[in-house]
Amino acid sequence: MVAMTTDTTGTAARDGESRRSGPADSPFVRACRRESVPHTPVWFMRQAGRSLPEYREIRANVGMLDSCRRPDLVAEITLQPVRRHGVDAAILFSDIVVPVAAAGIDLDIVAGTGPVVAEPVRTAGDVERIRRIDRADVSYVDEAVRLLVAELGDTPLIGFAGAPFTLASYLVEGGPSRTHAKTKAMMYGQPELWHALCARLAEVTLSFLRVQIDAGVSAVQLFDSWAGALSEADYRRFVLPHSTAVLSGLADTGVPRIHFGVGTAELLGAMGEAGADVVGVDWRTPLDVATRRIGPDRAVQGNLDPTVLFAPWPVIEAEVRRIVAQGRDTPGHVFNLGHGVLPETDPEVLTRVVALVHEVSARRAEQG
Ligand code: CP3
Repeated sequence: MVAMTTDTTGTAARDGESRRSGPADSPFVRACRRESVPHTPVWFMRQAGRSLPEYREIRANVGMLDSCRRPDLVAEITLQPVRRHGVDAAILFSDIVVPVAAAGIDLDIVAGTGPVVAEPVRTAGDVERIRRIDRADVSYVDEAVRLLVAELGDTPLIGFAGAPFTLASYLVEGGPSRTHAKTKAMMYGQPELWHALCARLAEVTLSFLRVQIDAGVSAVQLFDSWAGALSEADYRRFVLPHSTAVLSGLADTGVPRIHFGVGTAELLGAMGEAGADVVGVDWRTPLDVATRRIGPDRAVQGNLDPTVLFAPWPVIEAEVRRIVAQGRDTPGHVFNLGHGVLPETDPEVLTRVVALVHEVSARRAEQG
């Protein structure tokens, strides 16, 4: 059991190419490494969640954060979309604010709103309130990952965390924000405080991702969902060093790193420099254009508009075919949405999309 866990964390791939099997040799991990694949791998951001009736049922009387702290529930919810859709990877059921709560910040996830912070972070004293974390602070995540790795077999598990900017936005604003006005006010007005906050968040995030990697995840995704609110110059000055600290801090693990944001067309080059192996692309930028901005040394992930899933099937099919074809010109392509699954999405459509991606890409692989 222990030997198997070691073998599936990517250690085998790192130490020598001799004996790869299991998740480390799955189409998803191979695409992240820009290796040949039998078909384009596909998974969906927010696949574990409210589009599934079996999820709504299991969550009926359990709060969001409470459910993230119960390894049995985390494992079940993580597995639901894998069973139902046949996706190429599972994503751990959790939330980006879980490590921040573990670090001592009083917050809740309010249904229909998102994370709400009791006392927003605005001063140096507030930054000090964010404690460093270790495995013991998030033992439920460690346990959930171990359960899942044993359960998933050859299917890789993706761990994740929020990037410093996106986390800082929730902490400084106190909740979701359209403009990120208070966040940017700190960034421009108190740059030292801003950098201290992001440096602390980067430390927490790095520890949190290392716990997941040690427990056996096959890849990690760093969500910088709201980075698209920034100009490239501000991103490079205020955000890139901190995201780089997280991503390059994981380089020694050999586990593929995915870096994702929304509205990041102008930032794709800079985001690609932060140290990820795969850059997530939203639906606004065609994958071939994105690849030119990111460069040939990274794979790409994306990028079906999640609202296209509400269109008639022929429209969906055409879009999936276009994206698979554009992904062929990139050095490695992981099919995904451009952002998370919307709660009203028909799960049967997601299942059909998975089958279509596999079918179209496998046939093309045979021809090519
Ligand atoms: O992708 C997955 O399926 C794994 C689980 C996952 C959740 N949140 C579960 C969740 C992941 C990867 C996240 C990441 C996350 N959380 C991000 C980054 C991804 C993105 O969408 O950009 C962000 C910004 C958050 C913060 C957050 N948490 C928001 C904005 C919301 C939505 C609020 C709402 O209710 O509309 C949440 C809550 C949340 N996180 C839910 C789930 C399944 C819904 C809560 C519920 O079902 O009651």
